[in-house]
Amino acid sequence: MPPGSRQFALTWWFRHNSARSYRAVRRAIVLVIVQYVESLGGIRAVHAFRREARNQEIFEDVNGRYRDANIWSNRLASTFGPGISLLGRLTTAAVLLFGGYLVVQGQLTLGVLTAFVLYLRQFFEPMQDLSQFYNIFQAAGAALEKLAGVIEEAPTVPEPASPVRLMQARGEIAFEGVTFAYREKPVLHDINLEIPAGQIVALVGETGAGKTTMARLIARFYDPTVGRVTLDGVDERSIGVADLRRAVAMVTQESFLFSGTVGDNLMFGRPEATREEMIAAARAVGADEFITALPGGYETDVRRRGVRLSAGQRQLVAFARAFLADPRVLILDEATSSLDLPSERLVQRALRTLLRGRTAVIIAHRLSTVEIADRVLVIDAGRVVEDGTPTALRAEGGRYGDLHNAWVESLA
Ligand SMILES: Nc1ncnc2c1ncn2[C@@H]1O[C@H](COP(=O)(O)OP(=O)(O)OP(=O)(O)O)[C@@H](O)[C@H]1O
Ligand SMILES: [Mg+2]
Repeated sequence: MPPGSRQFALTWWFRHNSARSYRAVRRAIVLVIVQYVESLGGIRAVHAFRREARNQEIFEDVNGRYRDANIWSNRLASTFGPGISLLGRLTTAAVLLFGGYLVVQGQLTLGVLTAFVLYLRQFFEPMQDLSQFYNIFQAAGAALEKLAGVIEEAPTVPEPASPVRLMQARGEIAFEGVTFAYREKPVLHDINLEIPAGQIVALVGETGAGKTTMARLIARFYDPTVGRVTLDGVDERSIGVADLRRAVAMVTQESFLFSGTVGDNLMFGRPEATREEMIAAARAVGADEFITALPGGYETDVRRRGVRLSAGQRQLVAFARAFLADPRVLILDEATSSLDLPSERLVQRALRTLLRGRTAVIIAHRLSTVEIADRVLVIDAGRVVEDGTPTALRAEGGRYGDLHNAWVESLA
């Protein structure tokens, strides 16, 4: 067999196996990272349910698989590279032996043999470089495959090709024949709804009814499967995403705090705001008092030990952030956790200030919040089943009436 063909055979074998091994490495590291992040992120739950040993076991298992995949790919690489050099050396040895014999026989001059051996080395050296390069190429190829999967993912809400400019939104929201499914199963069914500018609407309903989903559609985190959601009569799909985000803001159930100071967290709502505006916003929603009482005031690091903000305080920070952002339409997914009475009062007062002069959609889990609203929508299994003022719905004694009675009883 000529030397070249053995090398091709070796390269073919390597290519076939190394691509698989490097893919196995990428798959394994993903599992290690996921397990690691989940275990540490949910460390309280891990302790509370005594899952330490089991989580450790799972971690050792995925980590073991990662190690095995690495050993596999390294073994392949360390067979291939030296294999190529070994072939080079063997060929040289064979040439020297046979050539030496011919020189002794007088059929070949020493000069020709020397030249031949030197040429042979020139032939094999680039082969060795190539084998090293090829190994790196295979590893990078496997990584690129994973990366391409992420990059190719199309955004759920594409930017319109020719966006409608929205300088100053009025804040009218409408659902026109909206049906929506996250995947196949529809979550919202043919919803028609008009919310005039400045109205405060409370969404109530059982868990899983589709309230958060409606909020996400208004904020355009998703587009409807059928029908359209409009802001000031314009389909949200044709409004520039930046304009839309400025006009519509959502405060979520998990009033999220980013690492940094309390001030940074407030400025997140409108990074170009001045410090005075930021403090004014905190004052407006009544967050100023507890913030100035913190060890470093607005400069306090929210992740510092001993500065854990309470649920009510986090809500107030989230409200002040939204107040500073000053959107025309505010969507609030109220936290389900109950607050103690003084915090509850504080939060309700802040809420009234925050909502003044805006269109608001509040997913209400508390009676006190529903009472602020001009209008209540009862959502059931993806449909609006009742729609009216809180007083009218209470008088009707339907679903909202039952819910209201249950709330009142829970307070007594
Ligand atoms: N990201 C998602 N992907 C797939 N299905 C989802 C997603 N979010 C919600 N769902 C499904 O959509 C339905 C409605 O959920 P949604 O979160 O809107 O309910 P909700 O009324 O806000 O409930 P809750 O009062 O518990 O917050 C549920 O059946 C839920 O399983
Ligand atoms: Mg929800």
